Amino acid sequence: MRVLGIETSCDETGVAVFDENDGLLAHAVYSQVELHAQYGGVVPELASRDHVRKLLPIIEQTLATASTVPDRVDGIAYTAGPGLIGALLVGASLARSLAFALGKPCVGVHHMEGHLLAPMLEHDTPDMPFVALLVSGGHTMLVEVTGIGRYKVLGETLDDAAGEAFDKTATLLRLSYPGGPALAELARQGTPGRFKLPRPMIRKPGLDFSFSGLKTAVMLAAREQSLDDQVRADLAAEFQAAVVDSLSAKCRQAMRQTRASTLVVAGGVGANLSLRETLGQLAAEEGWRLYFPRPEFCTDNGAMIAYAGMLRLRAGERIPLNIEARARWRLEDLKPPGVGQAVV
Ligand code: KG4
Ligand code: ZN
Repeated sequence: MRVLGIETSCDETGVAVFDENDGLLAHAVYSQVELHAQYGGVVPELASRDHVRKLLPIIEQTLATASTVPDRVDGIAYTAGPGLIGALLVGASLARSLAFALGKPCVGVHHMEGHLLAPMLEHDTPDMPFVALLVSGGHTMLVEVTGIGRYKVLGETLDDAAGEAFDKTATLLRLSYPGGPALAELARQGTPGRFKLPRPMIRKPGLDFSFSGLKTAVMLAAREQSLDDQVRADLAAEFQAAVVDSLSAKCRQAMRQTRASTLVVAGGVGANLSLRETLGQLAAEEGWRLYFPRPEFCTDNGAMIAYAGMLRLRAGERIPLNIEARARWRLEDLKPPGVGQAVV
């Protein structure tokens, strides 16, 4: 089965063609970063309009790179939520209309299921059950995964997501949007420990996270200093260390609680090198198998949607002719492919 995947939940237009037998044939991501940079964050209406402009040309380009034609595609998968509703509706309407015109099946994919399954795009893939740490701009959660569509959320953030905390702290440190990668880069020139920031929730039982206090602590520390380059770098390094410590402590707790031996990390913050190194060391000490997608599949992309959509379409799952997108959508509301959903 060959699936065209479409991702438009936020500020990246992602398209991919995934073939069950031949793997990923092509993928392309167009980032709207420059469009939103002048506003310091994503402007939803501008995001939707840019998806309208870019999506169809990127689909044509990706099909050409995959050396395939629409008729040879067996189904279409799009991100149905959660995300920005206007942006989601662009992908939803185009995917549904294209599928209708071509007479192909269509399925809506949960964005976080896409992230969670992104490691499956790699050569060496994790076996289920596993624990997944999903760390993106909108979500931070630990999930126990016992099968496709069998997800138990073990803990999640009580306030800001990890990526959101990176982005907001980056703004405090006068870095341009999007802040996460820029802050990680600045942290390389700094020394963690010069400023002492809290490790939120680390001593608390339970697997929830909290990052908004950390951002406030950076703001207070920055107020007392003249914000020269070294201070900014040292604050960035300590902030990154605090986030990585909090995430890894909760991963350790989740692995113990579930007695799992495989940890999967995905979502935009999964591209962070310090997180990858720290979890790598922890996994070696604890004897876990650890899986990350390559950095370009940690951030939003169409490949993860094509892959997750392929699993669901293959099981016979279809959406009816109405166009569906949801701004909010609980991961635990998903069912295994083909079970209890609209199957035609
Ligand atoms: O998964 P993603 O592309 O989009 C969402 O679904 O939200 O994640 C984007 C988030 C942003 O907050 C971005 O700053 C963060 O991931 N991010 C990083 C890095 N690369 C992306 N945060 C820290 N270090 C990075 N290298
Ligand atoms: Zn995402």
